[in-house]
Amino acid sequence: MGRDATLKIAITGHTSLVGLLGWPVEHSISPPMHNAAFASCGMDWCYLPFAVPPGALAEALRGARALGLRGLNATVPHKQALLSLVDALTPEARAIGAVNTILMGEELTGHNTDAAGFMRALRGAGCEPGGIRALVLGAGGAARAIGYGLAQAGAYVALLNRTPERAASLAADLRAALPGAAVEHGALSAALLTRLAPGAELVVNTTSAGMWPHTVAIPWPEEVAFPHGALLFDLIYNPAETRLMALARAQGARAENGLMMLVHQGAEAFRLWTGVEPPVDLMEAACRAALRGGGDAAHSDGR
Ligand code: ATR
Repeated sequence: MGRDATLKIAITGHTSLVGLLGWPVEHSISPPMHNAAFASCGMDWCYLPFAVPPGALAEALRGARALGLRGLNATVPHKQALLSLVDALTPEARAIGAVNTILMGEELTGHNTDAAGFMRALRGAGCEPGGIRALVLGAGGAARAIGYGLAQAGAYVALLNRTPERAASLAADLRAALPGAAVEHGALSAALLTRLAPGAELVVNTTSAGMWPHTVAIPWPEEVAFPHGALLFDLIYNPAETRLMALARAQGARAENGLMMLVHQGAEAFRLWTGVEPPVDLMEAACRAALRGGGDAAHSDGR
């Protein structure tokens, strides 16, 4: 079995096909990540990007079924729409309110591997989430998966968003899905952060502030001290170091970017489709090589 991230797959008469539904998709580094994994495992599988406009999603799924695809990933803007287009949903996908992976057999089953991918990446960064105080910045699609993963693992989660109503609605959804979950919510304001930051052990940035090409943006009010000794997990991976990560490090926090979440959500999908243990290190190397080669995807739930 090869361990070379640049190994190429060969298409044969038996090749199993999986792919990514998105609009746009040309920025994605999931194809090189998965194809490197298939090649390294000696598997006759191939992963293709499919640029599917929102109005064509149902038709694309019918086509994928007719063509015998084995599985699909989904990214912006399809993750929510797929909830009503698949035949069955896992409890995670239903609770998060988004499908990022479809297992295609007799039935199409909608999964969400973002929460599991994030939790693996978090534990890989040395953070055990049970009982910790976590601040989640943002309340969009990525925050739904991160909030679910953290609350389910027993963290105390504060959801803080520029538009506080979205944080309130996400908190209500999480409490409904996970009775007993310790979730609070509020505005991503200097006043609230000044109160909550001192006790925080983990800060997760799920907002797009700081993401390429808007790299000067920062979702943290700079007059508020970043919690010393905390872990910042920024879901952005392009740039590899955001302004928020630099601010956190300068104040004695640790900082990780979102690359390992991208890798682990992909690894979870690989495992689901193939039943084979994913070559995670190789997938990471393939992502790094693709980013050096100019891939410009920027957010670890955006594939
Ligand atoms: P995603 O699916 O990637 O989470 P999204 O649903 O568009 O994308 O959500 C983007 C998140 O980034 C939102 O929480 C957004 O805040 P609003 O709900 O107030 O729009 C947040 N966001 C984007 N730019 C921001 C900025 N400059 N400062 C703070 N938050 C920002």
